[in-house]
Amino acid sequence: MAGPALRGATITGWGTALPERVVSNEELAKTVETSDQWIVARTGIKSRHLGGTTSALATEAARKALHMSGVAKADVDMVVLATITADQQCPASACTVQDELGLDCGAMDLNAACSGFVYALVTAHGLIATGANNVLVIGAETLSSITNWDDRGTCVLFGDGAGAVMLQATNGPGQLLGWDLNSKGHLRRLLYADMGVHLVMEGKEVFRQAVKAMTASGNASLTQAGVCAEDIKLVVPHQANVRIIEASMKRLGIPLERAAVVLDRLGNTSSASIPLALVDAIENDRLEQGDLVLLVGFGAGMTSASAVIRWGAT
Ligand code: COA
Repeated sequence: MAGPALRGATITGWGTALPERVVSNEELAKTVETSDQWIVARTGIKSRHLGGTTSALATEAARKALHMSGVAKADVDMVVLATITADQQCPASACTVQDELGLDCGAMDLNAACSGFVYALVTAHGLIATGANNVLVIGAETLSSITNWDDRGTCVLFGDGAGAVMLQATNGPGQLLGWDLNSKGHLRRLLYADMGVHLVMEGKEVFRQAVKAMTASGNASLTQAGVCAEDIKLVVPHQANVRIIEASMKRLGIPLERAAVVLDRLGNTSSASIPLALVDAIENDRLEQGDLVLLVGFGAGMTSASAVIRWGAT
Protein backbone atom coordinates (compact mmCIF):
# COMPACT_ATOMS: atom_id res chain seq x y z
CA MET A 1 0.00 0.00 0.00
CA ALA A 2 1.40 3.38 -0.93
CA GLY A 3 0.57 6.58 -2.70
CA PRO A 4 2.05 9.85 -3.79
CA ALA A 5 3.42 12.08 -1.04
CA LEU A 6 1.19 15.04 -0.09
CA ARG A 7 4.09 17.15 1.20
CA GLY A 8 7.71 16.20 0.83
CA ALA A 9 10.46 15.69 3.37
CA THR A 10 14.22 15.29 3.35
CA ILE A 11 16.98 14.26 5.75
CA THR A 12 18.97 17.28 6.95
CA GLY A 13 20.96 15.92 9.88
CA TRP A 14 22.23 12.65 11.26
CA GLY A 15 24.13 11.12 14.14
CA THR A 16 25.10 7.86 15.79
CA ALA A 17 25.99 6.54 19.22
CA LEU A 18 27.83 3.39 20.27
CA PRO A 19 28.65 2.02 23.71
CA GLU A 20 32.37 2.26 24.51
CA ARG A 21 32.86 -1.44 25.21
CA VAL A 22 33.97 -3.43 22.15
CA VAL A 23 33.63 -7.20 22.40
CA SER A 24 35.61 -9.32 19.94
CA ASN A 25 34.74 -12.81 18.73
CA GLU A 26 37.75 -14.08 20.68
CA GLU A 27 36.28 -12.67 23.89
CA LEU A 28 32.94 -14.41 23.23
CA ALA A 29 34.80 -17.66 22.57
CA LYS A 30 35.93 -17.59 26.21
CA THR A 31 32.35 -18.00 27.43
CA VAL A 32 30.58 -20.06 24.72
CA GLU A 33 31.84 -22.83 22.45
CA THR A 34 32.60 -20.86 19.31
CA SER A 35 35.53 -19.38 17.41
CA ASP A 36 36.44 -16.22 15.55
CA GLN A 37 36.86 -18.33 12.44
CA TRP A 38 33.31 -19.78 12.66
CA ILE A 39 31.64 -16.44 13.39
CA VAL A 40 33.46 -14.60 10.59
CA ALA A 41 32.84 -17.38 8.05
CA ARG A 42 29.13 -17.84 8.86
CA THR A 43 28.16 -14.20 9.59
CA GLY A 44 30.91 -11.71 8.64
CA ILE A 45 30.89 -10.30 12.18
CA LYS A 46 34.23 -9.62 13.92
CA SER A 47 33.22 -7.49 16.89
CA ARG A 48 30.31 -5.59 18.38
CA HIS A 49 29.73 -2.76 20.89
CA LEU A 50 27.81 -3.72 24.03
CA GLY A 51 26.33 -1.68 26.86
CA GLY A 52 24.41 1.46 27.71
CA THR A 53 20.68 2.03 27.72
CA THR A 54 18.45 2.42 24.69
CA SER A 55 17.29 5.91 25.70
CA ALA A 56 20.83 7.15 26.39
CA LEU A 57 22.13 5.88 23.03
CA ALA A 58 19.04 7.25 21.26
CA THR A 59 19.46 10.63 22.95
CA GLU A 60 23.13 10.90 21.96
CA ALA A 61 22.43 10.03 18.32
CA ALA A 62 19.39 12.32 18.15
CA ARG A 63 21.27 15.21 19.77
CA LYS A 64 23.85 15.03 16.96
CA ALA A 65 21.16 14.86 14.25
CA LEU A 66 19.32 17.82 15.78
CA HIS A 67 22.49 19.89 16.06
CA MET A 68 23.58 19.14 12.51
CA SER A 69 20.18 20.01 11.05
CA GLY A 70 20.17 23.42 12.71
CA VAL A 71 16.52 22.97 13.65
CA ALA A 72 15.61 24.83 16.85
CA LYS A 73 14.43 22.66 19.73
CA ALA A 74 11.14 24.54 19.78
CA ASP A 75 10.52 23.56 16.15
CA VAL A 76 10.79 19.78 16.59
CA ASP A 77 7.30 18.30 16.24
CA MET A 78 7.82 14.64 17.01
CA VAL A 79 10.29 11.97 18.14
CA VAL A 80 9.75 8.54 16.60
CA LEU A 81 12.03 5.91 18.14
CA ALA A 82 12.21 2.46 16.56
CA THR A 83 13.27 -0.14 19.11
CA ILE A 84 12.51 -3.60 20.48
CA THR A 85 14.53 -2.92 23.63
CA ALA A 86 12.87 0.08 25.27
CA ASP A 87 14.22 0.82 28.77
CA GLN A 88 10.84 0.07 30.32
CA GLN A 89 7.61 -1.64 29.34
CA CYS A 90 6.17 1.86 29.56
CA PRO A 91 6.59 4.77 29.09
CA ALA A 92 8.11 4.86 25.62
CA SER A 93 11.87 5.48 25.60
CA ALA A 94 11.10 8.24 23.07
CA CYS A 95 9.66 10.23 26.01
CA THR A 96 13.05 10.06 27.74
CA VAL A 97 14.73 11.33 24.55
CA GLN A 98 12.23 14.20 24.31
CA ASP A 99 12.90 15.14 27.93
CA GLU A 100 16.68 14.76 27.77
CA LEU A 101 16.88 16.94 24.64
CA GLY A 102 14.61 19.57 26.17
CA LEU A 103 12.01 19.27 23.42
CA ASP A 104 8.32 20.13 23.65
CA CYS A 105 6.73 17.68 21.23
CA GLY A 106 5.13 14.29 20.75
CA ALA A 107 7.14 11.13 21.32
CA MET A 108 6.48 7.49 20.59
CA ASP A 109 8.27 4.17 20.26
CA LEU A 110 7.67 1.95 17.27
CA ASN A 111 8.33 -1.80 17.25
CA ALA A 112 8.82 -3.41 13.85
CA ALA A 113 11.95 -5.31 14.96
CA CYS A 114 14.90 -4.94 12.58
CA SER A 115 12.66 -3.26 9.98
CA GLY A 116 11.89 -0.59 12.59
CA PHE A 117 13.97 2.30 11.29
CA VAL A 118 12.45 2.14 7.79
CA TYR A 119 8.96 1.81 9.31
CA ALA A 120 9.74 4.88 11.45
CA LEU A 121 11.10 6.84 8.48
CA VAL A 122 8.00 6.13 6.37
CA THR A 123 5.79 7.02 9.36
CA ALA A 124 7.67 10.30 9.75
CA HIS A 125 7.11 11.12 6.07
CA GLY A 126 3.41 10.55 6.75
CA LEU A 127 3.49 12.92 9.73
CA ILE A 128 5.14 15.57 7.56
CA ALA A 129 2.67 14.98 4.73
CA THR A 130 -0.11 15.83 7.19
CA GLY A 131 1.42 18.93 8.76
CA ALA A 132 4.51 18.25 10.91
CA ASN A 133 7.65 20.19 9.96
CA ASN A 134 10.51 18.47 11.76
CA VAL A 135 10.59 14.87 12.96
CA LEU A 136 13.48 13.11 14.71
CA VAL A 137 13.64 9.51 13.52
CA ILE A 138 15.78 7.18 15.61
CA GLY A 139 16.70 3.50 15.63
CA ALA A 140 18.24 2.45 18.95
CA GLU A 141 18.80 -0.89 20.66
CA THR A 142 20.43 -2.59 23.59
CA LEU A 143 19.98 -6.11 22.28
CA SER A 144 22.50 -7.29 24.87
CA SER A 145 19.66 -6.96 27.42
CA ILE A 146 17.55 -9.64 25.70
CA THR A 147 20.35 -11.90 24.42
CA ASN A 148 20.86 -15.36 25.91
CA TRP A 149 24.62 -15.26 26.54
CA ASP A 150 24.70 -19.08 26.84
CA ASP A 151 23.25 -19.63 23.35
CA ARG A 152 26.06 -19.61 20.80
CA GLY A 153 23.50 -19.73 17.98
CA THR A 154 22.33 -16.18 18.78
CA CYS A 155 24.73 -14.41 21.15
CA VAL A 156 27.46 -14.02 18.53
CA LEU A 157 25.14 -12.04 16.27
CA PHE A 158 23.95 -9.03 18.21
CA GLY A 159 25.24 -5.60 19.23
CA ASP A 160 24.05 -2.33 20.77
CA GLY A 161 23.92 1.16 19.26
CA ALA A 162 21.81 3.95 17.81
CA GLY A 163 21.42 6.05 14.67
CA ALA A 164 19.20 9.06 14.12
CA VAL A 165 18.16 11.44 11.36
CA MET A 166 16.28 14.73 11.27
CA LEU A 167 13.52 14.65 8.69
CA GLN A 168 12.40 18.11 7.57
CA ALA A 169 9.50 19.27 5.43
CA THR A 170 10.45 20.59 2.00
CA ASN A 171 8.72 22.86 -0.48
CA GLY A 172 9.25 20.39 -3.29
CA PRO A 173 8.29 16.70 -3.55
CA GLY A 174 11.06 15.61 -1.18
CA GLN A 175 13.22 12.52 -1.07
CA LEU A 176 10.79 9.61 -0.80
CA LEU A 177 10.15 8.02 -4.19
CA GLY A 178 8.80 4.64 -3.14
CA TRP A 179 8.29 2.49 -0.05
CA ASP A 180 7.08 -0.91 1.06
CA LEU A 181 6.16 -2.11 4.55
CA ASN A 182 5.16 -5.73 5.06
CA SER A 183 4.58 -8.33 7.76
CA LYS A 184 4.22 -12.11 7.57
CA GLY A 185 2.77 -12.71 11.01
CA HIS A 186 2.38 -16.44 10.46
CA LEU A 187 6.21 -16.64 10.63
CA ARG A 188 6.47 -14.89 14.01
CA ARG A 189 7.48 -18.15 15.76
CA LEU A 190 10.83 -18.05 13.88
CA LEU A 191 12.17 -15.16 15.94
CA TYR A 192 10.67 -13.84 19.15
CA ALA A 193 11.29 -12.78 22.74
CA ASP A 194 8.53 -13.36 25.27
CA MET A 195 8.02 -10.63 27.90
CA GLY A 196 11.10 -10.52 30.12
CA VAL A 197 12.73 -13.49 28.37
CA HIS A 198 15.61 -13.84 25.89
CA LEU A 199 15.43 -13.87 22.11
CA VAL A 200 14.73 -17.26 20.52
CA MET A 201 15.53 -17.88 16.85
CA GLU A 202 15.40 -20.57 14.18
CA GLY A 203 18.48 -19.29 12.39
CA LYS A 204 18.39 -21.31 9.18
CA GLU A 205 14.74 -20.55 8.40
CA VAL A 206 15.15 -16.87 9.35
CA PHE A 207 18.04 -16.75 6.88
CA ARG A 208 15.91 -18.20 4.08
CA GLN A 209 12.95 -15.91 4.78
CA ALA A 210 15.24 -12.89 5.15
CA VAL A 211 16.65 -13.22 1.64
CA LYS A 212 13.13 -13.66 0.22
CA ALA A 213 11.79 -10.66 2.15
CA MET A 214 14.70 -8.33 1.33
CA THR A 215 14.38 -9.14 -2.37
CA ALA A 216 10.58 -8.83 -2.52
CA SER A 217 10.47 -5.61 -0.51
CA GLY A 218 13.40 -4.03 -2.34
CA ASN A 219 11.82 -4.80 -5.70
CA ALA A 220 8.44 -3.45 -4.55
CA SER A 221 10.01 -0.10 -3.64
CA LEU A 222 11.99 0.07 -6.88
CA THR A 223 8.81 -0.55 -8.88
CA GLN A 224 6.85 2.03 -6.94
CA ALA A 225 9.63 4.58 -7.38
CA GLY A 226 9.71 3.83 -11.10
CA VAL A 227 13.45 3.16 -11.06
CA CYS A 228 15.66 0.17 -11.96
CA ALA A 229 18.25 -1.69 -9.91
CA GLU A 230 20.99 -0.06 -12.03
CA ASP A 231 19.80 3.40 -10.94
CA ILE A 232 20.56 2.68 -7.28
CA LYS A 233 23.87 4.18 -6.12
CA LEU A 234 23.80 2.80 -2.59
CA VAL A 235 21.88 0.03 -0.85
CA VAL A 236 21.65 0.27 2.92
CA PRO A 237 20.58 -3.20 4.00
CA HIS A 238 19.75 -4.44 7.48
CA GLN A 239 22.99 -5.75 8.96
CA ALA A 240 22.23 -9.29 10.14
CA ASN A 241 24.62 -11.55 8.24
CA VAL A 242 26.94 -10.70 5.36
CA ARG A 243 25.73 -13.81 3.54
CA ILE A 244 22.13 -12.50 3.68
CA ILE A 245 23.35 -9.18 2.25
CA GLU A 246 25.30 -10.96 -0.51
CA ALA A 247 22.37 -13.19 -1.51
CA SER A 248 19.88 -10.30 -1.44
CA MET A 249 22.08 -8.00 -3.51
CA LYS A 250 22.54 -10.74 -6.09
CA ARG A 251 18.79 -11.31 -6.35
CA LEU A 252 18.10 -7.58 -6.55
CA GLY A 253 20.62 -7.38 -9.40
CA ILE A 254 22.76 -4.75 -7.68
CA PRO A 255 26.56 -5.22 -7.37
CA LEU A 256 27.68 -6.02 -3.82
CA GLU A 257 30.09 -3.05 -3.87
CA ARG A 258 27.05 -0.77 -3.73
CA ALA A 259 25.98 -2.11 -0.32
CA ALA A 260 26.80 -0.29 2.92
CA VAL A 261 28.25 -2.82 5.35
CA VAL A 262 29.17 -2.16 8.98
CA LEU A 263 28.20 -5.46 10.58
CA ASP A 264 31.82 -6.63 10.71
CA ARG A 265 32.38 -3.97 13.42
CA LEU A 266 28.88 -3.60 14.88
CA GLY A 267 27.05 -6.93 14.55
CA ASN A 268 23.27 -6.92 14.20
CA THR A 269 21.90 -3.87 16.03
CA SER A 270 18.29 -4.40 14.87
CA SER A 271 16.49 -1.04 14.45
CA ALA A 272 19.82 0.80 14.69
CA SER A 273 21.56 -1.11 11.92
CA ILE A 274 20.23 0.78 8.89
CA PRO A 275 20.87 4.30 10.25
CA LEU A 276 24.31 3.22 11.51
CA ALA A 277 25.19 1.88 8.05
CA LEU A 278 23.69 4.95 6.32
CA VAL A 279 25.70 7.39 8.42
CA ASP A 280 28.87 5.34 7.88
CA ALA A 281 28.31 5.57 4.11
CA ILE A 282 27.71 9.35 4.30
CA GLU A 283 30.85 9.85 6.38
CA ASN A 284 32.85 7.85 3.86
CA ASP A 285 31.66 10.16 1.04
CA ARG A 286 29.64 7.46 -0.65
CA LEU A 287 26.67 9.74 -1.36
CA GLU A 288 26.24 12.82 -3.51
CA GLN A 289 23.20 15.01 -3.87
CA GLY A 290 20.67 13.39 -6.19
CA ASP A 291 21.92 9.80 -5.71
CA LEU A 292 19.24 7.14 -5.32
CA VAL A 293 19.44 5.10 -2.12
CA LEU A 294 17.59 1.88 -1.32
CA LEU A 295 17.07 1.18 2.38
CA VAL A 296 15.92 -2.40 2.94
CA GLY A 297 15.44 -4.52 6.03
CA PHE A 298 13.65 -7.48 7.59
CA GLY A 299 13.12 -8.72 11.09
CA ALA A 300 11.00 -10.53 13.66
CA GLY A 301 7.36 -10.58 12.75
CA MET A 302 8.46 -11.35 10.16
CA THR A 303 8.45 -7.75 9.05
CA SER A 304 10.15 -6.30 6.02
CA ALA A 305 10.55 -2.71 4.90
CA SER A 306 12.20 -0.72 2.18
CA ALA A 307 12.32 2.78 0.78
CA VAL A 308 13.89 4.46 -2.24
CA ILE A 309 15.07 7.97 -1.44
CA ARG A 310 16.76 10.65 -3.53
CA TRP A 311 19.64 11.87 -1.39
CA GLY A 312 19.57 15.58 -0.65
CA ALA A 313 16.28 16.17 -2.52
CA THR A 314 14.33 19.32 -1.75
N1 COA B 1 29.96 -21.22 16.83
C1 COA B 1 30.26 -22.44 16.40
N2 COA B 1 29.35 -23.29 15.95
C2 COA B 1 28.07 -22.88 15.92
C3 COA B 1 27.68 -21.60 16.36
C4 COA B 1 28.69 -20.75 16.84
N3 COA B 1 28.44 -19.51 17.28
N4 COA B 1 26.35 -21.48 16.22
C5 COA B 1 25.91 -22.62 15.70
N5 COA B 1 26.94 -23.48 15.53
C6 COA B 1 26.94 -24.83 15.02
C7 COA B 1 25.59 -25.49 15.13
O1 COA B 1 25.43 -26.07 16.41
C8 COA B 1 25.66 -26.53 14.04
O2 COA B 1 26.40 -27.63 14.52
P1 COA B 1 25.98 -29.13 14.10
O3 COA B 1 26.16 -29.17 12.61
O4 COA B 1 26.96 -29.95 14.86
O5 COA B 1 24.57 -29.29 14.53
C9 COA B 1 26.49 -25.85 12.96
O6 COA B 1 27.20 -24.80 13.62
C10 COA B 1 25.66 -25.28 11.85
O7 COA B 1 24.62 -24.55 12.45
P2 COA B 1 23.56 -23.78 11.59
O8 COA B 1 22.55 -23.14 12.49
O9 COA B 1 23.08 -24.70 10.54
O10 COA B 1 24.52 -22.68 10.95
P3 COA B 1 24.20 -21.63 9.86
O11 COA B 1 25.16 -21.72 8.78
O12 COA B 1 22.74 -21.59 9.51
O13 COA B 1 24.54 -20.28 10.62
C11 COA B 1 23.37 -18.46 11.68
C12 COA B 1 23.80 -19.91 11.77
C13 COA B 1 22.57 -18.10 12.91
C14 COA B 1 24.62 -17.60 11.60
C15 COA B 1 22.54 -18.26 10.39
O14 COA B 1 21.54 -19.26 10.31
C16 COA B 1 21.89 -16.93 10.33
O15 COA B 1 22.54 -15.91 10.24
N6 COA B 1 20.55 -16.89 10.30
C17 COA B 1 19.82 -15.66 10.24
C18 COA B 1 19.86 -14.99 11.56
C19 COA B 1 19.35 -13.60 11.52
O16 COA B 1 19.50 -12.91 10.54
N7 COA B 1 18.76 -13.16 12.62
C20 COA B 1 18.32 -11.84 12.80
C21 COA B 1 17.14 -11.53 12.02
S1 COA B 1 16.81 -9.82 12.10
